[in-house]
Amino acid sequence: MTKKKQANKTAAIVLAAGLGTRMKSARPKVLQPLAGRPMVNHLLDTLKGIATEDCVVVVGPDMADVADAVVPHPTVVQARQLGTANAVAAARERLQGFKGDILICYADSPLISAATLDRMLAAKRARENENTSVVVIGFRPSDPGDYGRLVTAGGGMLEAIVEAGEATEKERLITLCNSGVMAVGAEHLFSLVDMVGNGNAKGEYYLTDIVALARGLGLTAAYVEGEAEELIGINDRADLAVAEAILQSRLRGRAMAAGATLIDPSTVYFSADTRLGRDVTIGPNVFFGPGVTVADNVEIKAFSHLQGADISSGAVIGPFARLRPGAEVGIDARVGNFVEIKNAVLESGAKANHLSYIGDARVGAKANIGAGTITCNYDGHVKARTDIGEGAFIGSNSALVAPVAVGAGAIVGAGSVITRDVKNNSLAVARGRQESIQGWAEKFRKSKSSKKNKKKKD
Ligand code: UD1
Ligand code: CA
Repeated sequence: MTKKKQANKTAAIVLAAGLGTRMKSARPKVLQPLAGRPMVNHLLDTLKGIATEDCVVVVGPDMADVADAVVPHPTVVQARQLGTANAVAAARERLQGFKGDILICYADSPLISAATLDRMLAAKRARENENTSVVVIGFRPSDPGDYGRLVTAGGGMLEAIVEAGEATEKERLITLCNSGVMAVGAEHLFSLVDMVGNGNAKGEYYLTDIVALARGLGLTAAYVEGEAEELIGINDRADLAVAEAILQSRLRGRAMAAGATLIDPSTVYFSADTRLGRDVTIGPNVFFGPGVTVADNVEIKAFSHLQGADISSGAVIGPFARLRPGAEVGIDARVGNFVEIKNAVLESGAKANHLSYIGDARVGAKANIGAGTITCNYDGHVKARTDIGEGAFIGSNSALVAPVAVGAGAIVGAGSVITRDVKNNSLAVARGRQESIQGWAEKFRKSKSSKKNKKKKD
């Protein structure tokens, strides 16, 4: 009884120390974003419910930013990037004394699902009596290319993994590839890793060698097959784009399954953390950056770009709206075309329908912001706030020079430049006074045309 319970414990090692040279980037590969979040964090999220014990991330020596990104997961440093087996060895001390299964995942294969990981663990546990020390997930990519090949032995058993660089011509024809994901019994993992050498094409310590080494010790290895959509590795920018497309298609499916209408799904881009209520309608070409929450019954019309925004029920956004971080759109509020909102609250029923910039501001309930209104929140040195009271009416093409407050129910005349506070329910007009001179235009035309005629005669 106790023995079985112990064997079901699962820890994980996530390899993230690789240099990622094929990405040609200043930032570590595993921090390249997918759906607005570093790829390594997608994987760690999936591992959450599975690796219930330690989930250790192996990073390179100058990767403090990776360690920061994976908090609260512990990290260990692989001093030199000598290969995947050497990276696993870096986690030895951290996992000392752990009894159970150790999952090994590559941070550059972040699309795997919890269900597939569960299936691998179940296969390992079902084969416990066969002395199975390693179970690997294989897949069949459209182009096997540089992936390691699984040399199988029938009955789901695995003989060896051969790296593409080492493979014979015949082995290269194998279409079943190594995803890099494996489950290894903790009692065997580090002794197997210690046996790996680096006498190969790349001069690296290949983790994949542990399959053949385990068999040499009289242990067995097995494999399960998964979908390419979950298992592709991301080595360069083209792989990154393929992974992004896979993830976006999942996120669109999830949004629709949860009750959102996407008029043209393939043109809508989500972030991994986008949260949508029910009966949300999203038009074509809408982009969600990180940190957007949308309540029920919201409509987001075509070509809107949203990031760090909180939208309450019944609001209508766009078309062509831009919500930047700190935008809070209240119940039934409206943000229309070519309106940009940043760090500002539009309280319930407020409207900014056309061509405006509202930044560092509060717009009270039911206030109306006329076309072309600008909150002048920046004087070149510091930002300042604008406060617009409930039910206020700001005439078109007004500039509100912050810090400034417009009281509840006040009216600002069109074309005003407001630099001082406006009291509740009063009218503020701040523009050149209009002069009208009766008959002036007619006189002007006459004098011009007579001068023209004189010139012609000369
Ligand atoms: C690896 C596998 C290959 C498999 C493929 C799946 C090996 C030897 N090969 O090849 O069989 O088909 O993944 O995508 O394992 N890393 C470290 N330290 C190192 C080297 C790598 O932490 O010293 C990490 C990388 O950050 C990466 C992962 O290990 O997350 C895989 O390394 P990578 O160099 O990309 O291996 P592949 O050539 O893709
Ligand atoms: Ca890789």
